[in-house]
Amino acid sequence: MSSTSPDFLSKTLSRVKPSPTIAVSNLAADLKVAGKDVIGLGAGEPDFDTPENIKKAGIAAINAGKTKYTSVDGIIELKQAICAKLERDNALFYAPDQVTVGTGGKQILYNALMATLNSGDEVIIPAPYWVSYPDMVLLAGGTPVPVAAGIETGFKMTPEQLEAAITPKTKWLIFNSPSNPTGAGYSASELKGLTDVLLRHPHVWVMTDDMYEHLVFDDFKFATPAEVEPALYERTLTCNGVSKAYAMTGWRIGYAAGPKPLIAAMRKIQSQSTSNPCSVSQWAAVEALNGPQEFLASNNEIFVRRRNLVVEMLNAAEGITCPKPEGAFYVYPDISGCLGKTTPAGTKIENDEQFATALLEETGVAVVFGAAFGLSPNFRVSYATSDDNLKEACTRIQNFCAALS
Ligand SMILES: Cc1ncc(COP(=O)(O)O)c(C=O)c1O
Repeated sequence: MSSTSPDFLSKTLSRVKPSPTIAVSNLAADLKVAGKDVIGLGAGEPDFDTPENIKKAGIAAINAGKTKYTSVDGIIELKQAICAKLERDNALFYAPDQVTVGTGGKQILYNALMATLNSGDEVIIPAPYWVSYPDMVLLAGGTPVPVAAGIETGFKMTPEQLEAAITPKTKWLIFNSPSNPTGAGYSASELKGLTDVLLRHPHVWVMTDDMYEHLVFDDFKFATPAEVEPALYERTLTCNGVSKAYAMTGWRIGYAAGPKPLIAAMRKIQSQSTSNPCSVSQWAAVEALNGPQEFLASNNEIFVRRRNLVVEMLNAAEGITCPKPEGAFYVYPDISGCLGKTTPAGTKIENDEQFATALLEETGVAVVFGAAFGLSPNFRVSYATSDDNLKEACTRIQNFCAALS
């Protein structure tokens, strides 16, 4: 057996951190194998099945032999469905040649960064952020510029913070609302505050990650930058996908709409890396976007109930403050009140990673610690699991906190 020398691996790779969530997932898996009753609150996907009509469209595509290569960045039927969706939901007008389809939202974001970043280019990323943004920027040769948006502003970046973070080297702002990991959603007027800043800086583009668009609750109305400020249309890449709202995480379809030259550059990268996203999944996505949308509201009723349950139970835990977010299926409680305390098993909690590890080892509840998302001391709970699991997990968290001394 030969071992791979570190010199053999690329220098780019050394800039990228291993996923900080892997250690917790591995520990949870080990504890499960050892027979411990583990409740996972780490999943970044809905626990619902893909709707029947969408599955049938995938099966019909297989039966019809739509199993060959397609055009590199998506079939025209899907691009047309995306244009119709953007007009219907976002009042945004795009032609099919301004649209690109990739293997999940992740590939779309990655293509966009690879297509645009040069060494020294800065990308503003409000923190806490989805774990992949900074590392994708690093892989593409750019420099991530995190901007801490804490609990005091509802985990939302203020216009003043954005203004202060912009330099002549800024190329992109990555904007994600509702957010993974906090669930925070920017209202149209909050977003306008940010787009007004961008109007003053014509060299800065916006990459908006609208993946959780349909997962919004109460009276909150989703808004996206190019809709709120049409003057930004020429420098906005609107990214979205079917993974979360349509419970299609495994099908791997994401898309973006934006200026033609950027879309063509992204297509070029995809043409020399993965080629087309799965043909069958593309046909299923056509049905997702063109078919009935009513189930979105009934899924959201379930998510609202779970969000309320989790927020109430976590706020009742000693030392924890849990804001009630506008969307997605995450909450991001603050654990400042637990720091400096010691668990019954003798672990002193100095940071959120120690909190999450002790919580898992001592109670079997698996959450992701805040440092992974660039803002501490917090942890992320995904409430995309059953009410019974959530009640049991939150009870264990309450007991864990009550036992700290
Ligand atoms: C904010 C955000 N953007 C993008 C993605 C990637 O989505 P996909 O599974 O379509 O690649 C995720 C998935 O967790 C996400 O949370």
